[in-house]
Amino acid sequence: MLVLALPGDEQLAQGLARRLRCGWSPVAMHRFPDGEALPRIDAPVQGRCVVLAAGLDHPDGKTLPLLFTADAARELGAAQVGLVAPYLPYMRQDKRFKPGEAITSRSYARLLSASLDFLVTVDPHLHRWHELRELYPIRAAAAAAAPAIARWIRANVTDPLLVGPDSESSQWVSQVARLCGAPWAVMQKTRRGDRNVKVVLPQGSWSDHTPVLLDDIVSTGGTLLAAVQALRKAGAAPPVCVAVHALFEDDALWRLIAAGVARVVSCDSVTHPSNAIPLAGVLAQAVRGVAKRANTPKEPSP
Ligand code: R5P
Repeated sequence: MLVLALPGDEQLAQGLARRLRCGWSPVAMHRFPDGEALPRIDAPVQGRCVVLAAGLDHPDGKTLPLLFTADAARELGAAQVGLVAPYLPYMRQDKRFKPGEAITSRSYARLLSASLDFLVTVDPHLHRWHELRELYPIRAAAAAAAPAIARWIRANVTDPLLVGPDSESSQWVSQVARLCGAPWAVMQKTRRGDRNVKVVLPQGSWSDHTPVLLDDIVSTGGTLLAAVQALRKAGAAPPVCVAVHALFEDDALWRLIAAGVARVVSCDSVTHPSNAIPLAGVLAQAVRGVAKRANTPKEPSP
């Protein structure tokens, strides 16, 4: 096995290689004056299982270089070419919300699957799609961040109450709460636009525990901000915010801090100052699971 780091993902590649007990090598990426990408693989790949390590937040500029690298590895004789993308983008557009819109989760899955034998990610945003295999015809593993998050909460929060900002979050909030032996609740969210979110708290007493707000993705921060404000209004203690994928645009982190949170932490699937929960261990374990079986023929498309 050999881990190849796409530019900027050297730390991810090193962490994976250490746990997979294999070598890693950076992919050299030349940019022509007009911006076109030319990857170069310097390590021998002939006959090896190549694992591409790529952080795919802000994916538009990263996807073509990734696909070119995957194709180069295959043409240079790699036995298998897989991808570890701790954050899997384009999962939220899982239906045509307005007439004429693209269903980008499906298009993106087709694009990646054409060049890869396997895919490993963490907690992809599964809402109307229930499993990755509904989208990805290649071997695909969704590792869970819940055990690592629960470990962090047990070590850092006294008397936690897990809170999800919307009904979709109940899947990971309930799992983390069970692992912590803590109570949990979810709010009701109405989204009126990218930055316009309303949340409603369920009835109950909010002053007996430390609320831990948990969401899979923080992007504009609007969802967590509305949730923090609702909790504070209901008399709750300053909440701890935990995100799996810290996309955090511009000043989102500072707006949360200004709203009176106790702390904001995230898993390291997207590099961000809030990273406190490492995922390399679960990613490596998932790679072992899919790579060893990746010589079998691809499953047919759904
Ligand atoms: C939505 O369905 C997700 O689970 C997150 O709640 C959402 O992506 C957060 O986005 P934002 O930070 O922009 O409110």
